[in-house]
Amino acid sequence: AQAPQQYWQVSVQRTSLILLVLQNSALVMVMHHSRNSPTNHQPRYLASTAVLLVEIIKLAASLSLAIYDLLQSHPASPASDIPALLWQSIFAPDCWKLVVPAALYTLQNSLVYVAISNLDAVTFQVTYQLKILTTVLFSILLLGRSISLRQWLALVLLTLGVALVQISGQISSEDWRERLSSLIRGGAALNVPTSSAFRGFTAVVAASITSGLTCVYFEKLVKDSLASVSLWTRNVQLSFFSLFPALFIGVLWQDGAAIARDGFFAGYGPIVWVTIALQAFGGLVVAVCIAYADNVAKNFAASLSIVVSYVATALLFRTPMTGPVSFFLPFCLTRMRILLGMLTNTRSRREVRPSC
Ligand code: C5P
Repeated sequence: AQAPQQYWQVSVQRTSLILLVLQNSALVMVMHHSRNSPTNHQPRYLASTAVLLVEIIKLAASLSLAIYDLLQSHPASPASDIPALLWQSIFAPDCWKLVVPAALYTLQNSLVYVAISNLDAVTFQVTYQLKILTTVLFSILLLGRSISLRQWLALVLLTLGVALVQISGQISSEDWRERLSSLIRGGAALNVPTSSAFRGFTAVVAASITSGLTCVYFEKLVKDSLASVSLWTRNVQLSFFSLFPALFIGVLWQDGAAIARDGFFAGYGPIVWVTIALQAFGGLVVAVCIAYADNVAKNFAASLSIVVSYVATALLFRTPMTGPVSFFLPFCLTRMRILLGMLTNTRSRREVRPSC
């Protein structure tokens, strides 16, 4: 009886990781385009409204899946009992544990909008890989996990890679090599980052810290109680508590005046709706990845998406592969190998790595 169960689990892991690679690749490009393309003299759409809509969509989807789970686990219960059962599971005594991750994820989602509005898509995607480092650091601090010297070395290399991409991002892709070697020879100084780039960089670093902290906390919470509380019930709780900061802090407090003047949907168009749909879908896929694989696998999938989106951009827009990412590409390809290895060995890996 365990074999089909394991087979199902491995299939869910693989499918969710592959979906995450595709979703991440598409989201960064679409979101960047939605923030930076002109909208016929309309004001740019407000990120706070998008963050709220994403939470509403995730809440509706998670609620439907939680109801489905309840129907499966209580086949003998009459349909009229389902609302009460649902209420009890969502507002269980430990539901308050989701308040902190809900607030942090809402903050993170807003920071991502700030970052992507102020950085180019590639610089954002590469710098956001810092979340690999923060996830490991929080796993050590909060879960007592330990990592080997080799893994530490890999993390230091990752951080150096991100720092180098940041530095080279200040230089146009054509002359970055030349300028960097001239800098090493003690020649021309690098461009001073613009305030917009600095704002974007600060936002992406802050988002990486909240990502590491929140996903480690969520993984522990979900895996500790997966036998008694379904993933979708946890996600309903998460989205429910996210609605409060998204509505009261983001929409009303931060952007209330602009919304009263221009309307909630000012600047909305098809590309904004695609961004919102992709982000909501991504949230659900991340939840499955964390619950059925883990945060390390989730972050590998996210970093792999750099390669996918870079190659897709190069093919779609026929741009030559030069600049910071061509230099970062070998690193990403190594990770692709690790990810593929991990996907084919998921079962043994899960046996070796105890869930937190
Ligand atoms: O970049 P990172 O992987 O940390 O992004 C996580 C994203 O997934 C956030 O947008 C967060 O709101 C979403 N999420 C979710 N449900 C979960 C866990 C994460 O919607 N259970």
